[in-house]
Amino acid sequence: MVEILSGQTAVITGAASGIGEAVALRFVEEGANVVALDRNADALADLADRLGDRCAVVAGDCTEAEICRRGVALALQKFGKLDCVVANAGVYDWYKRIDRMGTADVETAFEELFRINVLSTLLIARSSVEALRESGGSLIVTCSNASFRAGGGGTLYTASKFALRGVVYQLAYEWAPHVRVNGVAPGGTVTGLSGLAALESSSRRLDSEERTVEMVAKASPLGRAAAADDHAGCYVLLASRRDGKNLNGTILVSDGGLSSRMG
Ligand SMILES: NC(=O)c1ccc[n+]([C@@H]2O[C@H](COP(=O)([O-])OP(=O)(O)OC[C@H]3O[C@@H](n4cnc5c(N)ncnc54)[C@H](O)[C@@H]3O)[C@@H](O)[C@H]2O)c1
Repeated sequence: MVEILSGQTAVITGAASGIGEAVALRFVEEGANVVALDRNADALADLADRLGDRCAVVAGDCTEAEICRRGVALALQKFGKLDCVVANAGVYDWYKRIDRMGTADVETAFEELFRINVLSTLLIARSSVEALRESGGSLIVTCSNASFRAGGGGTLYTASKFALRGVVYQLAYEWAPHVRVNGVAPGGTVTGLSGLAALESSSRRLDSEERTVEMVAKASPLGRAAAADDHAGCYVLLASRRDGKNLNGTILVSDGGLSSRMG
């Protein structure tokens, strides 16, 4: 069997759970080495056990530049090069409306959510650009159906995911022709996606909210909520030097047709 990512090395943020974990597992299946970054040290250790010596991990907060730098340095030290970065760590606002928050809460929630969803993406991108230029590699950003339309979250989440669409387009323009920059925009997916400490919703997980999962399934033309692994092939395609060669500034929408209905 041909391994599509044979010999590649990838750094993935938010790799201990959900979509990031599914991408890490699939990348290894497709022949890649993976450096997994996540703030959940226990889940990360479990992933490392499952993936063996094709995986190295950095436990820490990806909103800290030092953690991102460490992830890139580990990839270079252990695997010799860096071909692909998946900027994926993210949190959710559970549709919380800003007109139902105090102004102080808007500030603290903005700070927390934008640091995780947007700043961590900028930091891992900045930390890896030289290595990606060197290898002719690619950056893949986890966007969302909320990167294109209202209704996929509250204003803060939607604004953060629209911002990531801007990051994809701008970096695709600035970093070409040496580095390709693309995104994947999943629709509602059954993962551990969690909320914000600032909104006292950090213990809420999407996969424990039966009603949300039902709502997501009902809204999808395919009649089901996606599983994390449903999106993994999109990342493989974008990372592939052969099949993704001409993809730059592209955001693959993996939402079961939800946005075609909303559009
Ligand atoms: N689940 C969905 O319905 C859905 C839909 C569209 C987009 N997304 C996006 O997919 C991405 C992955 O989310 P998921 O659904 O797999 O959720 P998840 O919670 O299962 O995975 C996210 C991972 O990111 C980690 N993380 C969060 N903040 C971090 C930080 N500061 N530093 C390091 N690690 C951090 C978490 O520990 C977790 O392991 C997010 O960007 C999310 O916005 C999810």
